[in-house]
Amino acid sequence: MEVDPVPAPIRYALVTGANKGIGLETVRQLALAGLTVVLTARDENRGRAATSLLQESGLSNVVFHQLDVQDRKSIESLANFIKTQFGSLDVLVNNAGASGVLVDEDGLRALNIDPATWVRFYGTSVDPALLSASSTFRRL
Ligand SMILES: NC(=O)c1ccc[n+]([C@@H]2O[C@H](COP(=O)([O-])OP(=O)(O)OC[C@H]3O[C@@H](n4cnc5c(N)ncnc54)[C@H](OP(=O)(O)O)[C@@H]3O)[C@@H](O)[C@H]2O)c1
Repeated sequence: MEVDPVPAPIRYALVTGANKGIGLETVRQLALAGLTVVLTARDENRGRAATSLLQESGLSNVVFHQLDVQDRKSIESLANFIKTQFGSLDVLVNNAGASGVLVDEDGLRALNIDPATWVRFYGTSVDPALLSASSTFRRL
C-alpha cells in the first residue's frame, strides 16, 4: 500500500529593513529556499513595491508588513500579526541598519556635544522602553 508523503511543515521567516540591499536579497534567498517570508520595511510604499517585485518574479510566498524597528507601536503591530497569522517565527533576520546603541544625551550635552549630531554619525538613539517591547519577538 502506498502512503502519501507527509508534507513538509511551513517555515516562517522575517527580515527587517528588506525593501532594498542585503535585506531584499535575503528575503529572495529565503523565499527561494521555500520559506514563507515576511518582508518588512519602515516605509509602506517602498516595502510594498519590493514585495510586488518578488511576487511578480514568481515568489508568491513573500508577504509584506510595515516595521520601523525604532517605533514601539510598529513593533507591537508586527508582533501581533506574526502571532495571529503564523503563531511563531522560525527565522528572524535583524538586518535593518539601526545600531541599538543607547545614548546618554545629558552626558553628551555636558561635553558640549549636540546629541542629535552625534547620533546621526555614530549611533541610534533608542528609547529603553523599546528594547523591552522588542523582546516580544523572543517570546514568540
Ligand atoms: N553593505 C555592506 O557592505 C555592509 C557591511 C557591514 C554591515 N552591513 C549592515 O547590513 C545591513 C544592511 O546593509 P545594506 O548595505 O543592505 O544597507 P541599505 O541598503 O542601506 O539598507 C538598509 C535597510 O534598512 C532599512 N532601515 C533603516 N532604518 C530602519 C528602521 N528604523 N526601521 C526599519 N528599517 C530600517 C532601510 O530602509 P529605508 O530604505 O527606508 O532607508 C533599508 O531597507 C545594515 O545593518 C548594515 O549596517 C552592511
